[in-house]
Amino acid sequence: MRGFVKRALEKLSKLDSEQIEHLVQDLAEENERFAVVLDSMNDGVMVTDEEHRVLLVNKGAERLLPLVTGRIIGDRLLWEVIADEDIASFVRDVLASEESVADQEFALENAGTTRLLSCSILPLVQAGRIRGNVLHFVDISEKRGREARLRRAESLASLTTLAAGVAHEIKNPLGSIGIHAQLIAKLVDSLSEETAIRRPVAEYLEVINEEIDRLNRIVVDFLFAVRPMDTHLVNEDLNNLTTDLLNFVQYELEQNGIELVQDLDPALPIVNLDQRYFKQALLNIIKNAIHAMPDGGALRVSTQTRGDRVLLRVSDNGVGMTEEVMNKIFEPYFTTRDFGSGIGLTLVYKVVKEHMGDISVISKEGRGTTFTITLPVPPSRRELITWKPRGDAS
Ligand SMILES: Nc1ncnc2c1ncn2[C@@H]1O[C@H](COP(=O)(O)OP(=O)(O)O)[C@@H](O)[C@H]1O
Ligand SMILES: [Mg+2]
Repeated sequence: MRGFVKRALEKLSKLDSEQIEHLVQDLAEENERFAVVLDSMNDGVMVTDEEHRVLLVNKGAERLLPLVTGRIIGDRLLWEVIADEDIASFVRDVLASEESVADQEFALENAGTTRLLSCSILPLVQAGRIRGNVLHFVDISEKRGREARLRRAESLASLTTLAAGVAHEIKNPLGSIGIHAQLIAKLVDSLSEETAIRRPVAEYLEVINEEIDRLNRIVVDFLFAVRPMDTHLVNEDLNNLTTDLLNFVQYELEQNGIELVQDLDPALPIVNLDQRYFKQALLNIIKNAIHAMPDGGALRVSTQTRGDRVLLRVSDNGVGMTEEVMNKIFEPYFTTRDFGSGIGLTLVYKVVKEHMGDISVISKEGRGTTFTITLPVPPSRRELITWKPRGDAS
């Protein structure tokens, strides 16, 4: 196109007015196209001529950068139109040194939030000559946030492994303390009733035993939550498993005035499950639902097929949760119940992940809560869902 324009310009004197009109129209369209492309980018782009005068500012640059008000394009120098002092002086120094710079980071405060901008300055090269400079800005706040979250998750994971190791190491001495406390108890028992220390020692021993129990529970719960699971996934019928479990809790539901509504998809494909773990997870969810309906209510359990996934949904019309609670429920030890452990849903989450599934929750305070687990249908079973016999009109 550019070559064509150049040739056309050389022959301009030979073109008639209609041809010139076409040429201008083509140029205008091309110009428009470039402007649209530049303005559609999230990145900020500013272009200067050799004297550092601003030639072009795209919409992204206006969004990302604090720019001075008034006319920008024309005689203004690049660093004069950038309102942020740090960035302006950085740009001035780089342009003065005639070097290019990649990915210099700046933090911009705006209405209480901090955004991170990465700034690059490159020469604008045309026909082997430097004709100016291109300033390129990218908002890297999101990316940085993601990286930080990943780093946190990784350090949390190694911390968890470490903590699991420590918890495991605590179990042995704890066992030994327990045994020796029992031995002391036996000794004390064998003392005659008149011995002065007999009563107080027995009392102290009781306290020690209670504390040993408590420590033991903490360690066992913790290990249960963080240990890698030895899941064995085999072909299972999720409907059967669900019905089994619901039969198991039926009595408890009745006792609590909770009506059970089941809606299981009879055509649900077979999925890969570890019965033991999955039942435990489902039980945890149902127990929570029961706790959430102290004055009775309805528990709805349904299964569905959705493309190459199956859905298991458990809904209650109990107390529900606030958004704040909802954001924390899968965290270990998070509980709002007086005698809760806060481990139930942590385990659920782990089990679902071990099954390559997902879990989501929707809740409204005073209205109720719905947990949805999705599990992948094994590839070998997918054909059975989508396969239709040839010539089948339905
Ligand atoms: N169905 C539900 N309705 C309302 N809140 C729930 C429900 N399920 C879980 N929660 C909230 O999630 C928290 C964590 O649950 P969980 O991990 O099972 O621990 P725990 O049951 O020991 O509190 C509960 O304390 C409760 O605040
Ligand atoms: Mg629970």
